[in-house]
Amino acid sequence: MYYSSSSLLALVAAVATVNAHSAIIKAVGDGKGASQGFLVDQQLARNCTTISPCQQDSVIIRDQEITQNIVNQCGRTEIAGNIDVGAETENELAAGRMAQVSAGGVMKVTLHQVNADGAGPYECDLDMTNNAGPANNVALKVTNNVPGANGLSQNKEQQFTINVQMPKDMNCIGASTGDICTVRCRNNALAGPFGGCFAVQQTDGKGRTDSSAAGKPPLNTLSSP
Ligand SMILES: *[C@@H]1O[C@H](CO)[C@@H](O)[C@H](O)[C@H]1NC(C)=O
Repeated sequence: MYYSSSSLLALVAAVATVNAHSAIIKAVGDGKGASQGFLVDQQLARNCTTISPCQQDSVIIRDQEITQNIVNQCGRTEIAGNIDVGAETENELAAGRMAQVSAGGVMKVTLHQVNADGAGPYECDLDMTNNAGPANNVALKVTNNVPGANGLSQNKEQQFTINVQMPKDMNCIGASTGDICTVRCRNNALAGPFGGCFAVQQTDGKGRTDSSAAGKPPLNTLSSP
């Protein structure tokens, strides 16, 4: 995705005025390993509500910014701006932070609520290509949701673990390994929505079977002029 300097300026201005208020600090499936939200910093203090440092890896995901190509489908953080889904997925794979899950399996997703508008309920959806954008995302069933109404509650500096069920017909085909999906969760706070994305690796899918560049075999090979 290309970012013009004017959209970057708009983004910087937007980032400066938004306080973001939750982070996905852990996600575990029915297989090995654990994922964390893209750009989540495990060293960041979780014992305050201030922008610096306690909101710095919180993620805001606005449909309007996605539509305007200011951010990808996973939004942005206070410090780092747009989350590059493809790059962050490869970073997580390289770091060995990848939860494995099977079709129909339940992910236990731990959200850190920084302050009031990081509350629930959260909605989650799935991109089986990892990084194709939200158009074909599949809605996921969420149980044991974070308490709250319209993304607001009196809770702060607190963690909640929600259950997010993968679809039975899941087939993750993304990333360098060809078997990665992206899960996106966010609340509906007016100042947000807040939440985040993380990658998961499927243990029982077909994965990506066609590795040609365009996703289909070339019609013909180049002949010399
Ligand atoms: C908050 O957490 C940070 C590190 O995570 C620690 O250095 C600091 O002492 C804590 N502050 C309080 C008031 O507990």
